[in-house]
Amino acid sequence: MYKDRWALVTGASAGIGEAYANALMEKGANLILVARREDRLKALAESVEAKGQRALIVPTDLSDPGAPETIMAQVNAAGVPVDILVNNAGYGLPGTYSETTWKDQQDFIQVMVTAYAQLTHLALGPMRERGWGRIINVASLAGLIPAGANYTLYGASKAFVIAMTQSVAAECRGTDIKASACCPGFTYSEFHDVTETREVVNKLPKYAFMEAGPVAELSLRAVEKGHTTYVPGGFNKFIAALLRLLPLSIAERLVDRHSGWK
Ligand SMILES: NC(=O)c1ccc[n+]([C@@H]2O[C@H](COP(=O)([O-])OP(=O)(O)OC[C@H]3O[C@@H](n4cnc5c(N)ncnc54)[C@H](OP(=O)(O)O)[C@@H]3O)[C@@H](O)[C@H]2O)c1
Repeated sequence: MYKDRWALVTGASAGIGEAYANALMEKGANLILVARREDRLKALAESVEAKGQRALIVPTDLSDPGAPETIMAQVNAAGVPVDILVNNAGYGLPGTYSETTWKDQQDFIQVMVTAYAQLTHLALGPMRERGWGRIINVASLAGLIPAGANYTLYGASKAFVIAMTQSVAAECRGTDIKASACCPGFTYSEFHDVTETREVVNKLPKYAFMEAGPVAELSLRAVEKGHTTYVPGGFNKFIAALLRLLPLSIAERLVDRHSGWK
């Protein structure tokens, strides 16, 4: 479906990003792979090339404010377009707002907000010139529901990503450029180790979790169908709908009681 298209995936070294990269590879795309762990990107690039497609690796720390410009400069130098952009790299910053340092919060905003916004901005202009593009921004169920204590800017960053994607999608209506915010719930990946929530989430029932592969696959279907805000999985859809139907004060109290689960 995406034969000869070039797809840039951030956070391609693990979890949901790796699943997007694999799904896009299976659909015939060439890949631009971004994350910090170069060895993992190289291994993924080799599997892309083994299928006869092309891959470019751009090992990058997205907390560097210059990263989006540097990535696009490398892509331009390679002479390839970004037809499909998957902004996915992310993590949760453990701790309360007062305990964490501003430097850690600033890096978090850079990775979770600014990099998403700037890469979208850098990719969108050329997409409009070429008349085709797909933008998938990986948000979270956490961006659709009230935020609890700790991981303070996580829900805020995901709410930003959802609203930004809705606006970009509206701006592109009537063209062949589609934007979609994917809002997964609990997904098996390295996320809960990095975020230090493994112990808490291990106590949750299995039906609350999805594998990364179906999340990526369903999200790629959703962008093609024009779903601007997409929640994968029946359980996640139920939670999103329930918390939106409840009066805000009750939803806030419910989330508060279960905070620390993200
Ligand atoms: N898993 C869940 O339950 C869940 C639920 C809802 C939403 N999400 C969202 O899904 C996205 C992917 O998370 P995941 O579950 O796949 O987590 P993961 O397995 O921990 O993967 C995170 C990816 O982000 C990359 N990354 C993190 N910090 C980076 C940085 N500073 N610079 C460049 N790359 C960076 C990591 O690569 P390197 O370490 O190699 O740099 C890795 O490839 C995130 O945006 C997350 O918020 C996850």
